[in-house]
Amino acid sequence: RQVAIIKVPFGLAGARGGAELGPDELITAGLRREIARLGLTVQREVRVDCTNMPASSTEKSRGKYLSEVRQVSERVCREVSNAVTGGAFPLVLGGDHSIAIGTLAGLSANYSKLGVIWFDAHADLNTEEHSLSGNVHGMGLAVAMGHSSFNFSQIPGAGSFIDPSKVVYIGLRDLDDYEKLQIRTLGIKSYTMHDIDRLGIEQVIKQALSIVGEGTDGIHISFDMDCLDPREAPGVGTPVPGGLNYREAHFALELLASTNRITSMELVEVNPLFDQNRHTARLGVELIASLLGKRIL
Ligand code: ARG
Ligand code: MN
Ligand code: MN
Ligand code: MN
Repeated sequence: RQVAIIKVPFGLAGARGGAELGPDELITAGLRREIARLGLTVQREVRVDCTNMPASSTEKSRGKYLSEVRQVSERVCREVSNAVTGGAFPLVLGGDHSIAIGTLAGLSANYSKLGVIWFDAHADLNTEEHSLSGNVHGMGLAVAMGHSSFNFSQIPGAGSFIDPSKVVYIGLRDLDDYEKLQIRTLGIKSYTMHDIDRLGIEQVIKQALSIVGEGTDGIHISFDMDCLDPREAPGVGTPVPGGLNYREAHFALELLASTNRITSMELVEVNPLFDQNRHTARLGVELIASLLGKRIL
């Protein structure tokens, strides 16, 4: 199997700067070596240009840096789409979680029905209208579902919107009121930390797979490092106590890998400025290896 590494050094849509350093940090932490050890080939490694043209319009939006997010989304969409067309497994390295907009746009162009498992402390379901922070990293799924004024119709090459019935959340524990309402209204299947405590991560993954695995022709893993407990992953922009522990996160990804159904992954929100000894990036590399099929024995 061939992997396409797509680095997206973009951090303007996060709560604090630093996520733009994530891709290089993951590479330095040994990502290429881990991939080689798994017997996989890196078909291509691209670095998405995240330098921006000055805001092109005078549009008034409550989304901060929306013009920059648009430009980066177009480029990410193109690279992800090229990777799929070229027969490679897209591995997208963030960057803040707004890069998921481009990833999902590129995937939606190539899959007629995409399932998405969204590992996150947050739901990222805000729109420019409803966000309390204005940070677009908290809006990615709303954009991908077409709830925002910025949506796929403005991204060249994007396919159709993501279907909320084919999205599953894992790890939620910090939601805004509007997001709670949206999750209920749209009926998005959510495994909060409470549900993980109750059911155990194995059962959660089994149930999640039965939802995203049925009637879909691709399954994408969007992995926000803040789904982990901050003790495991301190190097993130928006840490929230009470997250997944080390083995829960690995076991979840190992189970997903063993299905051979996962068609793409992105790992986002690694923020070296808040990390210690590259701990979070190294954990990120290990987790990617688990999703790509690394086994203990
Ligand atoms: N809900 C908060 C907001 O809208 C936090 C979002 C955090 N998102 C993330 N991808 N880390 O600002
Ligand atoms: Mn997120
Ligand atoms: Mn998050
Ligand atoms: Mn909050």
